[in-house]
Amino acid sequence: MATRNVKIVEVGPRDGLQNEATMISTEIKVELIERLVNAGLRNVESASFVSPRWVPQMGDASAVMRGITQQPDIVYSALVPNLKGFEAALEVGVKEIAIFSAASEAFCQKNTNCSIAESLNRFESIMQMAQANDVKVRGYVSTVLGCPYQGDVDVSAVVDVSKHLYQMGCYEISLGDTIGVGTAYKVKQLIEQVEKAVPMHNIGVHFHDSYAQALTNIYAALEMGVNVIDSSVAGLGGCPYAKGASGNVATEDVVYLLNGLGIESGVDLQELVGIGHWICDKLGKTNQSRVGQAMLQKS
Ligand code: HMG
Ligand code: MG
Repeated sequence: MATRNVKIVEVGPRDGLQNEATMISTEIKVELIERLVNAGLRNVESASFVSPRWVPQMGDASAVMRGITQQPDIVYSALVPNLKGFEAALEVGVKEIAIFSAASEAFCQKNTNCSIAESLNRFESIMQMAQANDVKVRGYVSTVLGCPYQGDVDVSAVVDVSKHLYQMGCYEISLGDTIGVGTAYKVKQLIEQVEKAVPMHNIGVHFHDSYAQALTNIYAALEMGVNVIDSSVAGLGGCPYAKGASGNVATEDVVYLLNGLGIESGVDLQELVGIGHWICDKLGKTNQSRVGQAMLQKS
């Protein structure tokens, strides 16, 4: 595995903070993003241009994007649900966006107030505008291994939505285990099928860790050939519209795993652990990264 290039997409500033009861100031969000970049993360999902009525925690997305002193060659992406959100993102110079749909109707409806087909329809105009403005688009498929409302989700539904987003022009499809219920065997079966519609190097995994399976599932995905991993510093994360969605897999834990496999991620683990403790302190919550906890005890 050592010769591989693995891309980590740090989603802490977006997925991590969107579900926090404590409102975090714009200044701290900006500091978090800049510190993550300084620690070596090259892809940071930094904000979300969703409706502030739906997710008030992300209501300062424009101010956050404006506040960042952007470094060259770093991707500061943002989540966008519709044209209104995309227009706001464009206004502050966002160069990469992520659109999101789901493999389960029930979740799509709760999360975005529309059906899967409607959500894909909505994205048509976003894709056109993205092309015209030279903006890259990443696509999320949520609830790929289970849904908080409908339970089991058919692999074929995941394949259909993934294929649609890819054919529409999303350069990467991130498979979201939104409520962290998946296990390694199911992950392998899922990727085997999705790969028939989306090339392996365009597939990413986005695993929440509710059942402590995320790292094992990532290893299974790596074995399958996946090279894109979403994670969140200190294991922050959760979706306000997915009951039972706890944090994402911690970036510290992913970096530790990659280091052990001899895969160079370019991330300074010590630095990252410090950031994890700092942001947890600001949020008044326990750090969910086991590596973060272990390294703190050692120091
Ligand atoms: P809606 O209420 O159906 O929207 O929400 P609407 O089009 O009917 O508009 C209603 C009002 O909202 C209007 O304002 C719009 O202007 C405004 P009014 O005329 O009443 O004053 N509005 C907006 N304002 C600001 N920014 C916007 C925007 N859009 C409309 N972009 C909508 C539909 C999609 C907007 C809403 O459902 C929404 O924002 N949902 C997002 C929910 C969310 O953020 N969930 C978490 C992110 S997804 C996730 O975490 C999963 C992921 O991590 C992967 C995984 O783990 O699986 C990605
Ligand atoms: Mg998520």
